[in-house]
Amino acid sequence: MLGPEEFIKDAIQKIKEQLGDKKAIIGLSGGVDSSVCSVLVQEAIGDNLIAIFVDHGLLREGEVEEVTNTFKDRLNFNYVDASEEFLNALEGVEDPEEKRKIIGKVFIDVFEREAEKTDAKYLVQGTIAPHWIESKGKIKSHHNLALPSGMVLELVEPIRDLYKDEVREIGLLLDLPEKVVHRQPFPGPGLAVRVIGSLTPEKLDICRKANKIVTDEIEKAGIDKDVWQYFAVLTDSKVTGVKGDQRDFGYLVVLRIVDSVDAMTAYVPELPWKVIQTMSQRITSEISEVTHVALSISDKPPSTIEFA
Ligand code: XMP
Repeated sequence: MLGPEEFIKDAIQKIKEQLGDKKAIIGLSGGVDSSVCSVLVQEAIGDNLIAIFVDHGLLREGEVEEVTNTFKDRLNFNYVDASEEFLNALEGVEDPEEKRKIIGKVFIDVFEREAEKTDAKYLVQGTIAPHWIESKGKIKSHHNLALPSGMVLELVEPIRDLYKDEVREIGLLLDLPEKVVHRQPFPGPGLAVRVIGSLTPEKLDICRKANKIVTDEIEKAGIDKDVWQYFAVLTDSKVTGVKGDQRDFGYLVVLRIVDSVDAMTAYVPELPWKVIQTMSQRITSEISEVTHVALSISDKPPSTIEFA
């Protein structure tokens, strides 16, 4: 096993040899995996790497601006708004695996279209070890692996043998900003796996607002680096509540805050109760469609980190 400095040198050399003067594209999400891959490949082949940031309409609040500002001057960066295409393809779809498959397919359609425009021959992906280990075991279809058989782009996966902590170490050595390196993982299918059941703009909006509150409160409490992931899930359950002296009937939101080393296993850490209370109070008072907030206390296994 190479140390991180040697890994970087070796990876850049291998990418140079494999790609030569050909063009490649990468789906850059702004997460640490695709960011590290983008910078590694950029170091190897320069602007022949076309980084494509796809907005699938399933992103978190402020994410488009954040990712654009971080990378527009460092990479050959292209923003593609495909949100309508994704949301149309997902309309009425309830099954989580079907959602993942549809998202994977539309991603590839978008990439292939962009690749055609750019004459790219390679698709770089930020697949890391837990992704393919879990997909092999058929636990969940990680969108990154859902490549159709007629795929015309050749795949390059420079960090496929690394675990998240190793990717973060390499990110720091590549001078990526702290906030990117320590950004909590966000699944490729985005909020689609955090809204249970079919997606609507209204449900996505509720989920987005709840996630923003969770993020704000975890950051405010200064525990964002102490936990692996923190987010809110909008369930498809409706529960009775009370507003003033009126009966209310709204959504159940679940808080999911877990710690982990590599996402293969995870546990629910002890959390400051005040933080949980504030999240719950803010979610029910600021999001009128939510009547109830619950806290998930299940480890992985038997649960998975995401709810879908
Ligand atoms: P699970 O829910 O399988 O999640 O315990 C393990 C880790 O992977 C993230 N995750 C994904 N990442 N594409 C990704 O790139 C996906 O389809 C996907 N599904 C889950 C999840 O957020 C957690 O960190």
